Amino acid sequence: MEPIEKKRQESRKTKNSNFYQQQYQDSFVEKWDALIDWEGRTKGEGEFFIRELQKRKSQKVLDAATGTGYHSVRLLKSGFHVHSADGKQNMLAKAFYNGRRQNLLLRTIHSDWRALTKNIHETYDAVICLGNSFTHLFDESDRRKTLAEFYAVLKPQGVLILDQRNYDAMLDEGFSSKHLFYYVGEKVKAEPEYLADDLVRFRYEFDDQSVHFLNMFPLQRDYTRSLLGEVGFQNIKTYGDFQETYKKNEPDFFIHVAEK
Ligand SMILES: C[S@@+](CC[C@H](N)C(=O)[O-])C[C@H]1O[C@@H](n2cnc3c(N)ncnc32)[C@H](O)[C@@H]1O
Repeated sequence: MEPIEKKRQESRKTKNSNFYQQQYQDSFVEKWDALIDWEGRTKGEGEFFIRELQKRKSQKVLDAATGTGYHSVRLLKSGFHVHSADGKQNMLAKAFYNGRRQNLLLRTIHSDWRALTKNIHETYDAVICLGNSFTHLFDESDRRKTLAEFYAVLKPQGVLILDQRNYDAMLDEGFSSKHLFYYVGEKVKAEPEYLADDLVRFRYEFDDQSVHFLNMFPLQRDYTRSLLGEVGFQNIKTYGDFQETYKKNEPDFFIHVAEK
C-alpha cells in the first residue's frame, strides 16, 4: 500500500484528543474563513453571545478556541476585554492577522485547554468555547480536565458558553444541515464521510478541489450537560440554534450556557 494511502487509512480511525494538532494544517487554516463566511455567521447568530455576556455583566472574556478570531474580533468590537487562546499557533497567527485588518490587536495565548492554568494566571467573567470545538476531545478524562480548567479560570459567578453540533440528530437520522448557522460558506461542501457513536469524520471540499478532514467525538446533548454539572457548573441552559424552545432533533447546533 502507498504510504499516503496507509496514512489516510490510519487517520480515518484516529480517535485521539491531540489529533487536532495534525488536522489543522496551514493549508486548512488558510481556508477556514471560507468555511465560516464571517458575514453569514453574523447573520445566523445575530447578537446572541453578546446578549448572553451583557446579561451577566461580563467584561473580561477568554475565547478558549479562538480559531481564526471570529468571536474575539466581534467581542472586541463590542467593547469586551478579550484574551484569545488556542492550541494551534497557526490559528492564532491567522486570528492576529484578521484582527490587524480591522485595526484591533488581539492578545493571543498559545495553550492547550488541558494546560490552561499553567499558561494563564488570571481569571475571567466568561469563557467561550465555540464553533463545535469541544468535540475534538476523544477521552472523557480530557473532557473533564478541560471543563475543570475552564472552571478554574472563571471568576465566581462567571459563565461558560460552549457549543456543539447536534450529534443526537446526526446519529438518529443521519446528517442534514440548514446551512444557516456557524459554518455557512457557500464555497465549501462539508459533510461526514464516516458516522458512528465514537467517531464522526467530517470531509471539507473547497472550490479549488482541495479536501480536508476533521475527526470529532459525537457528543450527545445530555451527556455534555451532565459533564458540565459533574464538574461543578450550575444553572445549565441549552439552546438549540440560539432558541430557548426546540424539538431535540431539529437544531443543527446546541449552545450550553453554564454558570460557575
Ligand atoms: C472547530 S475550530 C473552531 C474555531 C473558532 N472558534 C470558530 O468557531 O471558527 C476548533 C479550534 O479549537 C482548537 N482546539 C482543538 N482542540 C484544542 C485543545 N485541546 N486545546 C486548545 N485548542 C484546541 C483548534 O486548534 C481550533 O482552532
